Amino acid sequence: MPTKKIPYYITTPIYYPSDSLHIGHCYTTVCCDALARFKRLSGFDVFYLTGTDEHGQKIEEKAKQAGKTPKAFVDDIVKNIKDLWKLMGISYDGYIRTTDKKHKAAVQKIFTTLYEKGDIYKSTYRGRYCTPCESYWTPSQSKDGKCPECGRETVESEEECYFFRLSKYEKPLLDLLQNTDYLEPKSRVNEMVNSFLKGGLEDLAVSRSSFSWGVPVPHDKKHTVYVWIDALTNYITALGYGSENDTNFQKYWPADCHMMAREIVRFHSIIWPALLMALDIPLPKKVFGHGWLLIEGTKMSKSLGNVIDPFVLCDRYSVDAIRYYLLRELSGGQDGEFNAENMLTRINADLCNDLGNLVKRTTAMAKQYFEGKVVKPKAGEGTEFDGTLQKKMDGLFNAVSQRMDKLEISKSLEVLFELISESNKYIDLTKPWILNKEGKKKELNAVLYHLLEAIRIATTMLLPYIQNAPKKIFELLGIKEPKDFKDMLYGKIKSYTTKEGDALFVRLVIKKELEELEAAKAGGETKITASQIKNDTETVGAVTNRPQQNNKETNMITIDEFFKTELKVAEVKACEKVEKADKLLKLTLDVGGEERTVVSGIALSYTPEEMVGKKVVLVYNLAPAKLRGIESQGMILCAVQDDKPIIVSPESFVDNGGIVR
Ligand code: MSP
Repeated sequence: MPTKKIPYYITTPIYYPSDSLHIGHCYTTVCCDALARFKRLSGFDVFYLTGTDEHGQKIEEKAKQAGKTPKAFVDDIVKNIKDLWKLMGISYDGYIRTTDKKHKAAVQKIFTTLYEKGDIYKSTYRGRYCTPCESYWTPSQSKDGKCPECGRETVESEEECYFFRLSKYEKPLLDLLQNTDYLEPKSRVNEMVNSFLKGGLEDLAVSRSSFSWGVPVPHDKKHTVYVWIDALTNYITALGYGSENDTNFQKYWPADCHMMAREIVRFHSIIWPALLMALDIPLPKKVFGHGWLLIEGTKMSKSLGNVIDPFVLCDRYSVDAIRYYLLRELSGGQDGEFNAENMLTRINADLCNDLGNLVKRTTAMAKQYFEGKVVKPKAGEGTEFDGTLQKKMDGLFNAVSQRMDKLEISKSLEVLFELISESNKYIDLTKPWILNKEGKKKELNAVLYHLLEAIRIATTMLLPYIQNAPKKIFELLGIKEPKDFKDMLYGKIKSYTTKEGDALFVRLVIKKELEELEAAKAGGETKITASQIKNDTETVGAVTNRPQQNNKETNMITIDEFFKTELKVAEVKACEKVEKADKLLKLTLDVGGEERTVVSGIALSYTPEEMVGKKVVLVYNLAPAKLRGIESQGMILCAVQDDKPIIVSPESFVDNGGIVR
C-alpha cells in the first residue's frame, strides 16, 4: 500500500437523463464503484465521478412532450438517478450535470480558447443529417442515405456551423492508439483504427443552430455548442478546470480510467484526445470500453423497451446480489446476456451455498465446540491441511489486485471465491466433528481459527464488490469492519468471539422466481413494484413481503408454507440403541459441519451398524424434543411400507448439509 496517498481518478460516462436508467447503466456504474472502492481500501486518494449529459434536441423534445421545461424535466430524472445510486451504494465523489453553471462557463471558455487558437473555425456543412441522432454524415458514411448509427433515413442538409480541426490530429491519434495502452481492450483499437482513422479524419461539426437547449457559443449566440464538446469536457470541468478553483484538476488529472460501453469508445479515443491535444492538456491514462449487456441478443435500450428496472431487481433480490451478479457474470470486454435464470443460479451457488454456508457452518461450530471463543493457535497445534489454506489467504490480496489493476473485475471475483470454496473443502478434509469426538481440542481450535481467518480475509476483499453482507459477517465474527487492506495476512487476529445469526443468504426457488419475474414483465396482476417489496433486512437472496396466495382447499398448503420446512441431507456418523426402548436408535449426524443428535423410531428395521455411513434427510428446523431423556434435534424422513419405516436417502451423492426441496 502506498504510504503517501496517490490520486486515482475514475469516471463513468455522463448518462442522458431522457428517461430512468436501466440495468445496463448500472453495469458501468457498479464496475467503476467496485474499482473506486478497491483503490480507496488499497490506500489511494480516489475521485470517482459520474453525472448526467443534459443538453440537446432529444431532451428538449422529451420535455416538451412531458409539458415541462427542459430543466424541470431533467431535474426530476436526475433525482431518480441519484436515488438509484444511493440504493445501489454507489460511492461517487462528484456528480456533474452539464446544466451546472460552472460547467457551462468552462465549456464556453474552452470553445473560445480553441476558436482563438484556430482549432475551431466557422464554415458551411453540406451533407446528410440524421435528426434523431443529431449527427452529420458524409456521403461515404451514409452510403444508402441511411444513418450509419441508427439506420434511419437521413436528410440532405446545408448549415452554417463551427468545426473542430480534427483532421489535424490524425497522426498523433494513430500513434496514441497503436503504440500505447490508452485504449483497452485491445480489440477496440483495431476497430477504431480500421473503421475511423485509416479512412482519414474529417473536421467535426461542433455547433448546431437547430436547437437552443445547450451552451451558447460565446461570441455567436445563434449557435449552440454541440453535445460532444459539452459532454466530453465534463471530465475536466468537474475537477474545476476553467474555473478559479482548479485544485482538484491539479490533483487528479489526468484520469486513470474512463469507463464506458463500446458504442461511445469512438468519441473517447478520437475526439476526446484530439480536444485535449488542442488544449495542451495531458491525456487520460486509460479508456476502457466494456461490452454490452444484452437481452435476448439485443442491446438493452429504452427505445427498444427491453430494459430491466434496477429498482425492482434490487428490492427483490437485494443490492448485494445484483451488484455481485453484474460484477461476476460479465467478463470485461465482451458482450453478455442478462439472463434471470443465470442470475438466480449465481446467487444461489456463490452467495448462498459457498459464502453463506461457510459462514453458517463455521459460526455454528465455533458456538457448539467453544461457546464462540476461538484463539490463535500456537505453532504446531494445527492439522496437515492448514498450510495450504494459509498460503491461499496470504496470496489473496495480490491475486485480486493484479486482476483489478487490469480491470478484470469478474476474474478478480473468481479468485476471491476460490478461497471461499477452498475453505469449505478444508472443513470436509479436517472433519471438525471427528476432532471433537476424539477430544482433540487444540486441533479443533486451530481448524476453526483458520476458517475464521479465511472468512475475515475473503470478506475484507469482498468489500469493494458488495457491502451489506460483509457488514453482517464482521458482526458475526465479532470484529470491526476494516477500513483498508492493511491486515490481509493470516494470523492478524489474536482471538475471536463469534456470534450466531440468521442465514445470511436465503436460497431462491428459481422456477418460482422466474414465473414471478415473467408475470412482473407482462405487467399482470402480480406486477412487482419497488414499493411492494421492501427488503430492508438486506438479506442477500431474501424475498420478503411477497403477495401470498390463499388456497381455500382443505389439506392443501401453499408453496410458501411448504418452504417453511428446512430439509437437509445428513450423514450418520455414529449410531447406538437407546436403552430400554426397543424401537429407538440414537443417531449422530453430520449436517455439513454441524453435528446433530436425533432419536428415531427405526430400531425394528435397522441395526446401528447398518445405519452408520448412510445419508438421510433431516427435518432441520423441527423444534427439539426430549425422548427417553435424550434431546432429539430434528427428525429423519422415512417412507412407510407395511407399517415399517424405510429410510429416505438421496439417489446419488450429495454433500452433507445439501438442501432438499
Ligand atoms: N451521454 C452519452 C455519454 C457521454 S460521456 C462524455 C451517452 N449516454 S447514455 O445514457 O446513452 O449512456 C451510455 C452508456 O451507458 C454506455 O456507454 C454504458 O456505459 C452504459 N450502458 C447503457 N446501456 C448499456 C448496456 N446495455 N450494456 C452495458 N452498458 C450500458 O452515451
